[in-house]
Amino acid sequence: MTARSCILVTGGAGFIGTNFVLQWVERGGTIVNLDLETYAGNPENLVSLTGSPQHTLVHGDIADAALVSLLFREHRPQAIVHFAAETHVDRSIAEPDTFIRTNVCGTFTLLEQARQYWSSLREPERSTFRFLHVSTDEVYGSLSPDDPPFVEEQAFAPNSPYAASKAAADHLVRAWFHTYGLPTLTTNCSNNYGPFQFPEKLIPLMILNALAGTPLPIYGDGGNVRDWLFVSDHCAAIRTVLAKGQLGETYNIGGNSERTNLEIVRMICLILDELRPDPVGAHDRLITFVPDRPGHDRRYAMDARKIARLGWQPSVRFEDGLRSTVEWYLNHAPWVDRVRTGAYRDWIRQNYDERISR
Ligand code: NAD
Ligand code: TYD
Repeated sequence: MTARSCILVTGGAGFIGTNFVLQWVERGGTIVNLDLETYAGNPENLVSLTGSPQHTLVHGDIADAALVSLLFREHRPQAIVHFAAETHVDRSIAEPDTFIRTNVCGTFTLLEQARQYWSSLREPERSTFRFLHVSTDEVYGSLSPDDPPFVEEQAFAPNSPYAASKAAADHLVRAWFHTYGLPTLTTNCSNNYGPFQFPEKLIPLMILNALAGTPLPIYGDGGNVRDWLFVSDHCAAIRTVLAKGQLGETYNIGGNSERTNLEIVRMICLILDELRPDPVGAHDRLITFVPDRPGHDRRYAMDARKIARLGWQPSVRFEDGLRSTVEWYLNHAPWVDRVRTGAYRDWIRQNYDERISR
């Protein structure tokens, strides 16, 4: 597959999908982008591609078999890169239904439609077709402080409805390779951060709350650890696996950047103290410990040596990536205002009001 190939992307109006689509098009490739435009999908992210023959945005559901079949037949993509999912752990705890529907049933639909399309292909397209499933480190469960990082052979132990739904999808992908020979690849990545992330997730939520002078809600003791990766490094890793990954294999992707949540929030506060000083006082005065997330995984960390053997490694230092992310949110106030609509405010009330007033 070359950089100029036409591929089908799902969920390309979300955070990672947007970054991936913009980079793929910039490199000369063509994309058909199937996205349901849920609260997390924002076509405005892709406004710079308006009118481009290299990008077609299709508003639709990955669980719609007829639509997916039509897209395969019409566009004859050389690969599918599957990002579309419900992704927020807190929402999966509050309302798990859509997580099962999209992450499990939607992935099943894509696999079946991809299998039909792939079975109809002749050589050389048949041998070069790829189904790349984008997954998460959360399928592996939680690590203790001294455990070694997750390896690809780790048994799955998902703890949240989100993680369980992604683990189920990973198993389906594995089975479609082993049973039907569908040329699949799976990537399991650690926490991403960077431009276009919806401000329900830790880093953008803390940046925007700090700017607004509202509490910075730390779940539990703030000692939970995540392995952070700048989103463009994740996109590069996906391109590497697409080009060089071995069929049927899974690849762990991580930033080698473990940080506690409290460390991260303090770093954000310091960056903002410098870039947007608040006359009322240092931003860390807003740090507020709130009741923990149920079943909150203590630590994730990835052993990314397998993908390193394909020639990929993270390139952005966490300190640099975090600063440029804060700058991106400071420079995109209209984008921020538009995504923080009524539905967003309802979610913030639902998830935080009780926590903070307790
Ligand atoms: P996101 O929530 O920002 O975006 C998800 C996108 O999927 C949105 O554009 C949404 O409209 C679309 N979508 C949802 N349901 C759909 C459906 N039924 N049909 C079509 N489109 C639908 O997610 P993200 O953070 O960009 O994550 C993308 C993928 O990467 C997910 O599969 C996620 O599990 C995985 N992942 C994310 C992270 C992370 O830190 N964000 C880390 C590892 C893996
Ligand atoms: P999040 O961004 O939701 O990603 P994930 O749960 O998929 O890792 O959360 C990252 C970490 O930050 C996680 O340990 C939960 C914590 N967190 C808070 O302490 N406060 C918050 O308001 C949010 C959204 C997350």
